[in-house]
Amino acid sequence: MYTLARQLLFKLSPETSHDLSLDLIGAGGRLGLNGLLCKAPAKMPVTVMGLDFPNPVGLAAGLDKNGAAIDGFAQLGFGFVEIGTITPRPQPGNPKPRIFRLPEAEAIINRMGFNNLGVDHLLARVAAAQYKGVLGINIGKNFDTPVERAVDDYLICLDKVYVHASYVTVNVSSPNTPGLRSLQFGDSLKQLLADLATRRAELALRHGKHVPLAIKIAPDMTDEETAQVAQALIETGMDAVIATNTTLSRVGVEGMEHGDEAGGLSGAPVRDKSTHTVKMLAAELAGRLPIIAVGGITEGKHAAEKIAAGASLVQLYSGFIYKGPALIRESVDAIAALR
Ligand SMILES: Cc1cc2nc3c(=O)[nH]c(=O)nc-3n(C[C@H](O)[C@H](O)[C@H](O)COP(=O)(O)O)c2cc1C
Repeated sequence: MYTLARQLLFKLSPETSHDLSLDLIGAGGRLGLNGLLCKAPAKMPVTVMGLDFPNPVGLAAGLDKNGAAIDGFAQLGFGFVEIGTITPRPQPGNPKPRIFRLPEAEAIINRMGFNNLGVDHLLARVAAAQYKGVLGINIGKNFDTPVERAVDDYLICLDKVYVHASYVTVNVSSPNTPGLRSLQFGDSLKQLLADLATRRAELALRHGKHVPLAIKIAPDMTDEETAQVAQALIETGMDAVIATNTTLSRVGVEGMEHGDEAGGLSGAPVRDKSTHTVKMLAAELAGRLPIIAVGGITEGKHAAEKIAAGASLVQLYSGFIYKGPALIRESVDAIAALR
């Protein structure tokens, strides 16, 4: 059925088809219909970051930036749903077109630039959702907040989402907000993580609830830089790392239509880079922090590869666009087969 839907959706521009799909998934969710669209994944309970997941396959950030279709995505069988990236204030993002399909490479290039309706709107959507499962809220900074003041934006978002999130993801790896990725390195990273840890300790005391913090990183670091990130995460008491965001590399899409568009590349071409980052992190972290793997999962076996590389959970984005909800069940089955 998804093959037919995809044929129709792919006739529209990527952003129109994205908006329409979100509307349909949201409407299906409100009517409780989405569970009928696909066979539910097998139960495969796991506990990670102290949270209980019905299965280890989640929705990656960026598909539901404003929390418009939380119930709809959950009903498709995802074991957890991550919404955002959200910023303190609403912002329009980059001019359109800003998302491009590269079907022959099962890839997407996007330069959305954190288009979103702001954290208050997102919280209203969370309040309206029926979903009681694991909800990640991914936070970022407004494009016009200077990068030296980025921490202010992360703290505003953290304060607001804290009690509503199962875990909070700190996105320092989008390539579409100038300067953002510089926060992944050296003293900038250590300072940001230390400030987040301090605020989290205050919030935990105030609300009597420890909400895990996950840091989402890029696949474009050297092994040494990845190792430094891992050490900083351990030192500052972070709870998880999400690897990875999109890549700036264009390996695998050279010469293709849209292959040289600016932005982040996702889907099949980022798979090996992401898995390599997971392996590097796993070696450095040695089990002290769990890894959530995302990047290029377009078949169940790729999800299993991520777990074999050291991840505890996986997330889908581009593969879900190309393969539809069946990829969730396929991924759960392939991970279960590892056991
Ligand atoms: C159109 C689009 C928008 C995205 N927006 C976000 C975002 O807002 N925040 C974020 O952390 N990641 C975002 N991502 C990155 C994905 O969550 C994921 O990390 C990346 O695409 C690699 O996974 P994939 O190969 O399965 O797509 C976006 C990806 C795409 C394709």
